[in-house]
Amino acid sequence: MDVISVIRAKRDRGELSDEQIDWVIDAYTRGEVADEQMSALAMAILLNGMNRKEIARWTAAMIASGERMDFSALTRPTADKHSTGGVGDKITLPLAPLVAACGAAVPQLSGRGLGHTGGTLDKLESIPGWRALLSNEEMLSVLDSTGAVICAAGDGLAPADKKLYALRDVTGTVEAIPLIASSIMSKKIAEGTGSLVLDVKVGSGAFMKTIEDARELASTMVGLGTDHGVRTVALLTDMSTPLGLTAGNALEVRESVEVLAGGGPADVVELTIALAREMLAAAGLPDADPAKALADGSAMDVWRRMIAAQGGDPDAALPTSKEQHVVTAPASGVLTRLDAYGVGVAAWRLGAGRARKEDPVQAAAGVEIHAKPGDPVTAGQPLLTLHTDTPERFAYALESTEGTFDIAPEGTPFTATPVVRERIA
Ligand code: URA
Repeated sequence: MDVISVIRAKRDRGELSDEQIDWVIDAYTRGEVADEQMSALAMAILLNGMNRKEIARWTAAMIASGERMDFSALTRPTADKHSTGGVGDKITLPLAPLVAACGAAVPQLSGRGLGHTGGTLDKLESIPGWRALLSNEEMLSVLDSTGAVICAAGDGLAPADKKLYALRDVTGTVEAIPLIASSIMSKKIAEGTGSLVLDVKVGSGAFMKTIEDARELASTMVGLGTDHGVRTVALLTDMSTPLGLTAGNALEVRESVEVLAGGGPADVVELTIALAREMLAAAGLPDADPAKALADGSAMDVWRRMIAAQGGDPDAALPTSKEQHVVTAPASGVLTRLDAYGVGVAAWRLGAGRARKEDPVQAAAGVEIHAKPGDPVTAGQPLLTLHTDTPERFAYALESTEGTFDIAPEGTPFTATPVVRERIA
């Protein structure tokens, strides 16, 4: 087999055969196919697509590139959640301990932020002492003892995806539905969870800008999961505006702890409970009551044990920023738009995210939001507080907050976009 014929086949809109797919994934993982050849193929896939049969084979080949985890020794059913990424999306933090408090085991392999979307591991690393890197044995032990674990995926899991995702990130080939679906699902299937709930984000702050694209991505992933014996459900959820009132690492941990304490912003609580219900139903625990587990403190107990089991101090003070800058409302009226992408880019430029994967992040950097779409505002009131340890970043961050919000005259009708837009099973 030679790689040029595989690239040409996809360039000319052909269907790749099972043999071509198996060979190219294996040869790329071993280093026989070069990065420039794989990036040409990824671009041909982005431009010309893949059918469901090709996507299924591509996913299976990526799973086969590494090890598969096995949770069969656990007494509880396993349930996992994956978000396609958004701004202020801290849901994994309250959700994993909440679902564990309701009786499921939650093995949550998570990632770091890149670009304007935050990463769960970066957020949790703002807790003093907390460790993202666990061996497979440590991961199982935390899962067994606390019911939930949030950690980085080990190097052995879908190594083809690790290589390919890093390549796509620097070659403009991330936004391809076949490549996103196979990337996410190869890791989740190799992880060995029994059930999976996908939170597919739609809107300016998400990879999928339209509901049609989000539906296609969701149904492709649900099909892949189901074919591999994983009970898989997807919710399409709004990412036109940030989730909650914070975007940034320590800021989002603080907000997540508020949710676990029974408070927190309404949209974060609503989505956390909606995803928890789906995870519990998929895990065969439809009668569990996540709202009760939030209210009675049992989810908070699991959070504290889970953080401590990974070396963190749940009582430690979270880092706070050295410098703040307040953006005020230029007029009175109703806030009708607060753009997720603009807020995400501001948080990133303030130091909450990274431009290259080896960059450090600032734990305390980010954006605090003082008004959400639909809220009345008065001229001069704070809309956003920007946080950073390096004030020279303010000017650059402020460029991205320009044009991120609209204020309409008082009395202008406003219809909120629902947090959960559709469900695909
Ligand atoms: N997350 C992933 O894991 N892979 C993608 O391709 C996109 C988002």
